[in-house]
Amino acid sequence: MKTVLKQLIKDSDSSSIPFIKFMEEALYNPHKGYYMTAGKRLGPGGDFVTAPELTSLFGELLALQMIELWQFMGSPTKFKLIEMGPGSGRLAYDILRTAKQFKNFYAAISCELVEISQDFVQRQKKLLKKGGVHKKVCWHSDIDGALDGGVIGVIFANEFLDALPVHLVEQTANGLGEVGVKLDADGNFVTEILPLSKNIHGDYFSSRGITLATGTRTEIAMPAQNWIKKAGELLQEGMVLLIDYGHTQKDYYAPVRTNGTLAGHLQHVRIDDPLANPGEMDLTAHVDFSAILAAGREADLELLGYTTQGWFLMGLGILERLEILSKVAGTDTGPLKEAIKRLIMPEGMGETFKVMALGKGIGNQQLSGFRLNEQSKRL
Ligand SMILES: C[S@@+](CC[C@H](N)C(=O)[O-])C[C@H]1O[C@@H](n2cnc3c(N)ncnc32)[C@H](O)[C@@H]1O
Repeated sequence: MKTVLKQLIKDSDSSSIPFIKFMEEALYNPHKGYYMTAGKRLGPGGDFVTAPELTSLFGELLALQMIELWQFMGSPTKFKLIEMGPGSGRLAYDILRTAKQFKNFYAAISCELVEISQDFVQRQKKLLKKGGVHKKVCWHSDIDGALDGGVIGVIFANEFLDALPVHLVEQTANGLGEVGVKLDADGNFVTEILPLSKNIHGDYFSSRGITLATGTRTEIAMPAQNWIKKAGELLQEGMVLLIDYGHTQKDYYAPVRTNGTLAGHLQHVRIDDPLANPGEMDLTAHVDFSAILAAGREADLELLGYTTQGWFLMGLGILERLEILSKVAGTDTGPLKEAIKRLIMPEGMGETFKVMALGKGIGNQQLSGFRLNEQSKRL
């Protein structure tokens, strides 16, 4: 991957590339990108663990939230479940397995998985076939394929937006600049400040009431904002459900966070230098949920709810489920308790991870996931 990136830099007119291009290549170069080559990536033997990999309860509860929405919508006979970036396929598997227990809902749904990585597609196919739910599923490599003809249903994603490339910017004494990557005399990747890309305005932060201290280096997630606009335009009726680590704009760009949120993940170790190990480590940035909401509104999406993952799962009854399972004779709930703790406790994923639902044509029905400690006002 390093050779590919070095060549790209050498071939560019200015002998440097914007960081967003570096990140895009490091993660998604068709031959050498982190997500595009065969590799473990997810789970204990990989680089990071996601919520669906921790326990099937995560997907089961999400399925219940989708069924509730379907009922609010009058139980339509055709209802799409579209997952963006399904990874191992575990979340789709748990949702479909749960949905199977609700005859009318299962009859109505069709599932479409949007996955850029062929390596992941193969794993998803294997898992879903094993679970006997594969006949409900088809695959697309980008969102346009899935949304053809408009969507009535749910578009959902867990840890998808954080995996999209971001613009890295720096507040300099002369205004906002874009961070670029060039090679030093020894051929190492180093950063430099370039003029802003055309799609970012110099007043991006000031027009949002944000003041960055000089020297602050942070991210702007244009691809994520463009994605939600597209999803919103193509959603006819239903919701977009997003789960990811992230913040409100105020918290994201708070003065304490002068180094932004960009980080690498390699074998469960956080790597601060985003230029290290290209193609070999995951690279992610937290999600600015206020920006996602603003972009979604441009596509006529309405906010249905925003809260932390902990409150969302508790609203859907995760603790009650644990209690019921504890009463089943012979069940060792120790590992499940550990997984639930990690999902809902602030020191685990409970607080850093947020859940946002945006919708169209839903009215003001209260979704159970947002019945406790709903936090829209913070956005
Ligand atoms: C961090 S992983 C999350 C996997 C899974 N959702 C989970 O929670 O375990 C990001 C996923 O998004 C996929 N992905 C990234 N960019 C994509 C794109 N533009 N279109 C479709 N999938 C994409 C990756 O291949 C991977 O499956």
